Amino acid sequence: MSSEKYRIKSLSEYQKAYQESVENPEQFWSKIAEEFVWHKKWDKVLDWNFSEPKIEWFSGGKLNITENCLDRWVKTQPNKPAIIWEPNDPKEAHITLTYKELHHKVNQFAQVLLNNGAKKGDRICIYMPMVPELVIAVLACARIGAIHSVVFGGFSAHSLTDRINDAQCTLVVTADGAYRGSKEIPLKDIMDEALLTSPSVKKVIVLARTQMSIPLVDGRDVRWEDEIARVEAQGNPFVTPASMDAEDMLFILYTSGSTGKPKGVVHTCGGYMIWTNYTFVNVFQPTPESIHFCTADIGWITGHSYIVYGPLSAGATSVLFEGIPTYPYAGRFWEIVEKHKISILYTAPTAIRSLMAHGLEPLEGKNLDTLKVLGTVGEPINKEAWHWYNDNVGKGKCPVVDTWWQTETAGILISNLAGVTPSKPTYATLPLPGVQPILLDEYGQEILENNVNGNLCIKAPWPGILRTTYGDHDRCKLNYFSTFKDLYFTGDGCFRDDHGQYRITGRVDDVLNVSGHRIGTAEIENAINMHFGVVESAVVGYPHDIKGQGIYAFVIYNGTEQEMEIVLAAILHTVTKVIGAIAKPDKIQLVSGLPKTRSGKIMRRILRKVAEGELDNIGDITTLLDPNIVEEIKIGRL
Ligand code: WTA
Repeated sequence: MSSEKYRIKSLSEYQKAYQESVENPEQFWSKIAEEFVWHKKWDKVLDWNFSEPKIEWFSGGKLNITENCLDRWVKTQPNKPAIIWEPNDPKEAHITLTYKELHHKVNQFAQVLLNNGAKKGDRICIYMPMVPELVIAVLACARIGAIHSVVFGGFSAHSLTDRINDAQCTLVVTADGAYRGSKEIPLKDIMDEALLTSPSVKKVIVLARTQMSIPLVDGRDVRWEDEIARVEAQGNPFVTPASMDAEDMLFILYTSGSTGKPKGVVHTCGGYMIWTNYTFVNVFQPTPESIHFCTADIGWITGHSYIVYGPLSAGATSVLFEGIPTYPYAGRFWEIVEKHKISILYTAPTAIRSLMAHGLEPLEGKNLDTLKVLGTVGEPINKEAWHWYNDNVGKGKCPVVDTWWQTETAGILISNLAGVTPSKPTYATLPLPGVQPILLDEYGQEILENNVNGNLCIKAPWPGILRTTYGDHDRCKLNYFSTFKDLYFTGDGCFRDDHGQYRITGRVDDVLNVSGHRIGTAEIENAINMHFGVVESAVVGYPHDIKGQGIYAFVIYNGTEQEMEIVLAAILHTVTKVIGAIAKPDKIQLVSGLPKTRSGKIMRRILRKVAEGELDNIGDITTLLDPNIVEEIKIGRL
């Protein structure tokens, strides 16, 4: 593997690399970048200021990420599996695609995109199940220089329209339906509804997955299979990879923020490639034989970076799983580990907690000896889950990497390196080379001592930092670079121990983390408020055993008494329709008013305390417009 040159193999090598990355970032990253395939070398390694913000890595350099993920491996290891796909139903056969086969299929589909009018710079929305064609579609976009915007298959038509319109996508790739556990999700129906209000879309390419019957709109919709047949009839296509500037956009991925509207986080070709590759190689420490299983969906950043781009750019074998951990039985993950001889298992604390709830029986008789490294991502991991994972899955012999990062960071920023730097339960531990964390107090003062909590910021850019939010650079500046001057603000709270190791404590803004998924409270409130009869609502999080955070909604509703019973179900339905099932409140409390200050601001602190059950510890309520409302809300707590 070409990454051997920059794989860190010991604690002292880590310390040395870290120091160099901080003292001389340009030299450090240019040595690493040289190990990749470029059409033309960059003019300048790094140009940045956080005040605009302007961040450019390797600008002037020309490359195509798919040559780094595919073509270079076709030359050296054509028959190595690139993707192993495990279907939702264990009775269906799995599929292995070697680097050569994946390369071929990506070229075919890149030609299909071109045949359907796609070109460099176009935005393409991908709304698909977790099947090999999803990886193929993503890479085919990258091959022709089109910008992919993958939308998670659990989002509603309304969310889909918002995302398609924001990016002005001209083409959509979807499927008839998706299997998820025992459910069949009608993706094409949802897409059709979204497209009623998305006029920019001219073409829809539909893959057959569930074979459910779907209408095709004449002149707009074409079938994936027919298009591939057309390309096959023209002979074996080789699509010349578009020559992209390192700073050209690679993709947009929408994520929730504290306002109601999701942000289109933009990543660019060069820096994203280097960051996902570098972090994959160093955090997970794969060997050439490793089978890497990241259980995330490609609809989220974890799937982008650690199913697709990180592993493939490193020439590794990446497992793609269509289903859910507990279908059709609670031992499904362990069966997959045994069947595909998984070496690296990368999952979310919420999945671990839900599997813990099934006890040890599903693990019995499963051979997990191939496992070498375990990873977690997406939310703080509690001690119990960490130990359960370490003891029962890793049998105490696999390092557990607790990887902290965000959609905006492209890849892992703080984590131990498996078997190389020390782990500490519930701690993400130390920053990767190139990452300079800093903690600030509420007044924006740097906290220098250890054993403290603070707002987590990063001082300087690493290659994978977001470049902008699509179509709205001011928003990017306001969200990430304005809270604390000249720093990237993560929105997370963080504790630093005596040894300078970091433990992420959770969001400090109005963003919830439900089962490892980010959802803005404002987004949920907007959806609830759309429901007829709802006057106002306020959403907060509360601790939830499995999901990490549950969603608690306080809703002012002015309907009649008789309607109350059905209204709760109807609100849930509205939220599902508007955002998707992931945003459904766990609890809805109907109230006659909300705790507001005299200036009309909702005091969420009070609602949070009620939701958490801390009724005797509500704090000062004297500044409220109507302090009596608090008593009513406390009595009605669910
Ligand atoms: C949280 C997912 C604690 C955090 C990659 C962050 C974590 C948000 C961890 C980003 C971790 C992620 N420990 N918290 N190891 N990893 N988070 O954008 O609050 O979906 O800001 O990216 O998840 O979520 P996102």
